[in-house]
Amino acid sequence: KETKDQLIIDAGQKHFGATMCKSCGMIYTASNPEDELQHVQHHHRFLEGIKYAGWKKERVVAEFWDGKIVLVLPHDPGYAIKKVEDVQELVDHELGFQQVVPRCPNKTKTFLFISDEKRVVGCLIAEPIKQAFRVLSEPAGLESPSSKECHRAWQCSDVPEPAVCGISRIWVFRLKRRKRIARRLVDTLRNRFMFGCFLSTNEIAFSDPTPDGKLFATKYCNT
Ligand code: ACO
Ligand code: ZN
Repeated sequence: KETKDQLIIDAGQKHFGATMCKSCGMIYTASNPEDELQHVQHHHRFLEGIKYAGWKKERVVAEFWDGKIVLVLPHDPGYAIKKVEDVQELVDHELGFQQVVPRCPNKTKTFLFISDEKRVVGCLIAEPIKQAFRVLSEPAGLESPSSKECHRAWQCSDVPEPAVCGISRIWVFRLKRRKRIARRLVDTLRNRFMFGCFLSTNEIAFSDPTPDGKLFATKYCNT
């Protein structure tokens, strides 16, 4: 059963009155019919997308007190591939990514974090790569109002460095963030990407990171 309790977010200005759905995490204005309709549509699609009924054949690669990580490989049964596609669609929608065709679909590894409530609350999609370009630390003042446009244009080195594994997507359900789910997904990836070795943080690369992704990656790679 879902509660109708809603969290009021004071964004400091006219947005007072915005609510966040406690089930799907969407932030919307409850007093606005258009917004409400959008929410209802998103709500069902989203919760359906992250629902995990459990599979006959599942590859559990890590287990925790609050869930487990399941690995899906390209030749897995159709129901597993379908779930990965559904989750990726939700993630891409949230990230504003266009449908991107993976470079080597036969070598993609997808890690799903399944919560105790039987939901996919985290997803990591990885692929083999040969090189990556290091993100250079931001020049001071990048966050200043005048440079809002370059929110995603981190400066990259033009010297390629060898790498092994590219993280093309990492995502955690909004209501489950900051519980180390992303960290546990990357730890598991490093352990599982190549047989018999634990990848160093230098061997993995995040592709086109969002501001959230960059904050996470910076923290993860320094600890
Ligand atoms: N702001 C500041 N620090 C952060 C943030 C953040 N938003 N997210 C993570 N960190 C740092 C923190 O130091 C955190 O440790 P702490 O909570 O003890 O302080 C540490 O990273 C580990 O964080 P996790 O709890 O493991 O990260 P989480 O499970 O919350 O997931 C993620 C992080 C995946 C970036 C999540 O915020 C998310 O899904 N965001 C939206 C989707 C997105 O932008 N994904 C990245 C796209 S880039 C790409 O896919 C290559
Ligand atoms: Zn909702």
